[in-house]
Amino acid sequence: MERYLRNVWYMAAWAGEVGELGLAREVLGRPLFFYRLGDGRAAALLDRCPHRFAPLSRGGRDGDLVVCGYHGLKFGPDGQCLHNPFGPRIPAGTTVPAFAVTEAHDAIWLWGGDPAAADPALIPDFSFIPDTPEQRSVRGYTLMQANYEYGTDNLMDLSHIEWVHKGTFAGDGVIFAGEHSVRQEGDTLHSDWWMPKIKPPMVAQGLVGAGETVDHWLRMRWNAPASMRLDVGACPHGAPESKGFDIPQAHILTPANAHESHYFWTASRNHDLDSAEVDAYMLNLFREAFDVEDKPMIEAAYANVRANLEAGGDFWAEKPVSLGIDQGGTRARRLLESLIAREAAHG
Ligand code: FES
Ligand SMILES: [Fe+2]
Repeated sequence: MERYLRNVWYMAAWAGEVGELGLAREVLGRPLFFYRLGDGRAAALLDRCPHRFAPLSRGGRDGDLVVCGYHGLKFGPDGQCLHNPFGPRIPAGTTVPAFAVTEAHDAIWLWGGDPAAADPALIPDFSFIPDTPEQRSVRGYTLMQANYEYGTDNLMDLSHIEWVHKGTFAGDGVIFAGEHSVRQEGDTLHSDWWMPKIKPPMVAQGLVGAGETVDHWLRMRWNAPASMRLDVGACPHGAPESKGFDIPQAHILTPANAHESHYFWTASRNHDLDSAEVDAYMLNLFREAFDVEDKPMIEAAYANVRANLEAGGDFWAEKPVSLGIDQGGTRARRLLESLIAREAAHG
């Protein structure tokens, strides 16, 4: 059975996905119902009525109460049943598990553990996601048929760009000219590529004149469980980085269950902020890259090991060969394992 890190924030949805009707979504192997209270705050209940187990997401609302659509029990945001239409008595045990959720960076985050320990300050910094007068992002969501750590492998090892992203980001072999480094700061991991003095890759077109070269970087930051920020930047070769550009992206994976993952992504830009055309271009580009190029490869690779995992094996039992460039994914897996073990040891 999948062991999850509990005391950590999991991104559950884009804030805009949780509207009037709420949102039913599986997270950490549990069906959950996300909705909003009258004051706009997000709330989450197990999407399962304790009477005959109807999904609460199929019901309705009475102010801040969630009304089961099957026989009408009403529940408060703390999961307590506050109304039984069939009598004044509310039987013991008529409660639904309630979860700590909060909103930050245009997203709804679910705390995986004891609600008393849920501190929003522990959400990694994704403050670049919301639009500002200087910056605008496009964003997407996809449900991936793979365990979330296989998504981390993909993102912490961007050497796959040259192979998987031939239609989008492949850079004419620039990654082979790059230096890769992985470092850990506290519980944060960094998997960085530095590619100096190269022909401008697609993202850096127009930055320098014909025949001139650029310094290019790809910097991935990882926080448990699988919340990543990628900085894609370039500047004229030898110039200070501030003479170029740096575009942050979010890549956040959350387990739906052991075999499926929610994949949330964004890509920001600091030009043409009001252009619907540029929005559409970027959305198409990134959907192509993540949904059409990355996702089928990750899913197909996962399908090759899934039966063994279901039979009780794990990633390491498959004896993955190491190429060195994959150490970002390896370190993320090891760090997550150690955080889960630490949590298990300390309760
Ligand atoms: S299943 Fe919810 S009230 Fe009966
Ligand atoms: Fe990719």
